[in-house]
Amino acid sequence: MSLLKDQTALITLRPFFRFLLPASFFLAVIPVLAQHPLDFAAGKAIFDKNWVFAPASTGASDGLGPLFNARSCNACHPDGDRGANSSALVVHLNDRVYGQQIQKFTRPGVQAEAMIDLNWPESVGAKPLPPVALSLIDLEYGPLTSPALSLRIAPPVHGLGLLESIPESVILLLADAEDADGDGISGRVNRLPDGKLGRFGWKASQVSLFDQIGRALSLDMGLGNPHLPDPYGDCTLLQANCRKTTEGNNADNLEVSQKAFDLLLSYVRKIPAPPQANLTAGERVGQNLFLDTGCGGCHLPKIEFDGQEIHPYTDLLLHDMGPRLADELEEGGAAGNEWRTPPLWGLKPSHGNFLHDGRARNLREAILWHGGEANAARQAFQELNEKEQSDLIDFLSRL
Ligand code: HEC
Ligand code: HEC
Repeated sequence: MSLLKDQTALITLRPFFRFLLPASFFLAVIPVLAQHPLDFAAGKAIFDKNWVFAPASTGASDGLGPLFNARSCNACHPDGDRGANSSALVVHLNDRVYGQQIQKFTRPGVQAEAMIDLNWPESVGAKPLPPVALSLIDLEYGPLTSPALSLRIAPPVHGLGLLESIPESVILLLADAEDADGDGISGRVNRLPDGKLGRFGWKASQVSLFDQIGRALSLDMGLGNPHLPDPYGDCTLLQANCRKTTEGNNADNLEVSQKAFDLLLSYVRKIPAPPQANLTAGERVGQNLFLDTGCGGCHLPKIEFDGQEIHPYTDLLLHDMGPRLADELEEGGAAGNEWRTPPLWGLKPSHGNFLHDGRARNLREAILWHGGEANAARQAFQELNEKEQSDLIDFLSRL
């Protein structure tokens, strides 16, 4: 089956927010765009363009593969938004043979890795759907050595430059690993094996946009780049044939040159988060319900740093979200049941494909899947009457 169908006056401050503050996104971003509009356009062109196999007449765009999942960033993050269909779903794993992701496609002459079989359950009325059944078929390089799999959908990529600029010290202040304040919510940072603090990806397993984008180029598209220069991407030593193919070498002896990489990175850093909207009276009711039910304990309405205030509705921390959202794969320092609070700014309610594997068809379902540390908030949401629930959801669409 095909995948899925489908702001503000100042937030009232409540005592349970662990960190609060106000500067519109645009104040921070527009001046930068005004300074370098051509670089912004050039970076966007790299985000949008389709890469091809090497050798090709368009040398600056070749080097795709040998293994890959898509030909462009835009294929998975259309217009910088969340993935729209099953081609934007990626399987993470940590396997000696297959590497860190399953790639669905290969350049000619290279053995494919596997087919991804997704079984989306039929709708069961108003209840959330059971999670998608995921399996790999036709494993061409033999059985997996580590069978834990984790299905991920491409998240939206706006406002990330601001999240990257939050100082570590501020994130550490938000963390409450032992739940010292007794609110039932014990967010913790994803401390990676090398000691660095992770903040990007559904499990906060990437430290910076430099790392995240280098990884996307290498693992999703098989493109060697300044962060991960290997032209063979995710082909492991145990996939010898895959490492033998001719690859594109552009400037700097890389498939993605330093200059192209810098343009792409600076473009992604500047994709603005949507501006804050003025709330109607009805939406302010929804805002209060959002705060009263405890959503803001993780989806922080404000973070203040360096004299500015942003409204990302995340704490960038990992939370135990209970067994129904868990899978078996550990990533960085995150266990299978731990997920990073996703930012809620710019949520488009009509989009669907919410949560890490896109299982929720709408915002209501996304909320009903919350468990673990978010149990109390979910229950409080379920105790609201229908009108109140829809007010809260209307508020979410204005973030
Ligand atoms: C095959 C689909 C696919 C392609 C192609 C792809 N991405 Fe992604 N992207 C994802 C998925 C899935 C995630 C979530 C990964 C995770 O959970 O760690 C992600 C995460 C990200 C994030 C982190 C977002 C956040 O909120 O933490 C950024 C930034 C990003 N991608 C940028 C890019 C760029 C730039 C490109 C092109 C070089 C690209 N992606 C190509 C699927 C894709
Ligand atoms: C304990 C922390 C916590 C609390 C409390 C919490 N959330 Fe979340 N929320 C998360 C995490 C973590 C995820 C990602 C889970 C996943 O993808 O498996 C999430 C996901 C979401 C999503 C989907 C976002 C996306 O991009 O797909 C929405 C919408 C959402 N939460 C709304 C709410 C609302 C509304 C409330 C209050 C009723 C709430 N949350 C309470 C941590 C929390």
